[in-house]
Amino acid sequence: MDIKEARNIVIDKVKSLPTLPDVIHKVLSLVQGEDATAKTLGDLISYDQAISARLLKVANSAYYGFMREVATVQHAIVALGFREVRSLVLGITVFDAMKKSSREASIIREEFWMHSIGCALAAQIICKKVEEVDADIAFTSSIMHDIGKLVLDGFFTSEYEGVLEKVKKNGISMVEAESEVMGFTHADVGGWLCERWKFPLTLVSPVSFHHQLEKADADSIKVTSVAHMADVLCKRAHIGSGGDDKIPPAHPLAMEHLELKEDDLDKITEELLEEKEKVKAFLSAIQ
Ligand SMILES: [Fe+2]
Ligand SMILES: [Fe+2]
Repeated sequence: MDIKEARNIVIDKVKSLPTLPDVIHKVLSLVQGEDATAKTLGDLISYDQAISARLLKVANSAYYGFMREVATVQHAIVALGFREVRSLVLGITVFDAMKKSSREASIIREEFWMHSIGCALAAQIICKKVEEVDADIAFTSSIMHDIGKLVLDGFFTSEYEGVLEKVKKNGISMVEAESEVMGFTHADVGGWLCERWKFPLTLVSPVSFHHQLEKADADSIKVTSVAHMADVLCKRAHIGSGGDDKIPPAHPLAMEHLELKEDDLDKITEELLEEKEKVKAFLSAIQ
């Protein structure tokens, strides 16, 4: 299938997927600032019952391990901080849309969610060590970096079975098998979906280019590098699975842009392993 043809078919199919709730675009456009912004964020979230309930569930989970109950959205903003709450709301909403929009076929969902959330946690750890990266964009884009796999699994089920078979038989990665069998990859599809959701470029780029850093532009190379490294490190730590068990090498561009050394990668992987239980806590809170 030629890539243009594929894009049209996928876009046609994803038209049947739910669009994201309006609140997401409002939340995305909020910039951290004065108290007034924190209040606006709180009001926006409180307005959506489903999102507020899940936010409180995550805030009260072992992922954060607070001693006292976080009872209100405003309290969550004070306890977790503006940026963290913003990331969580984005993450939870995208997670929901992904869940609703996908029909389980070949990819094992539990493993897939563990991988997605593990990557978000890895992105948070990386962002503590790297300056100049918008940590909430890194968190959200890492949760959804492999979203294209769900679209392919749900809508191109028989072709995707072929992809998974090839992965098993030839010991290659998902991207390699997808390119061979379909002529395009989950990263392409994820990017098309994010465009349909009208996400800003800094969110689209990590989804589209986490396997092809050389294609990311100067403005989004760092956040794309974080998503790439999060994916690699999550695989090193064996948290969940995105369909194959290949551990890809860290892309030299990511190492360069994030100024990381092999030593740092070992440390981050260790930290990630120590926090593995958090991934499970997060997953059970938002399910
Ligand atoms: Fe991927
Ligand atoms: Fe991945």
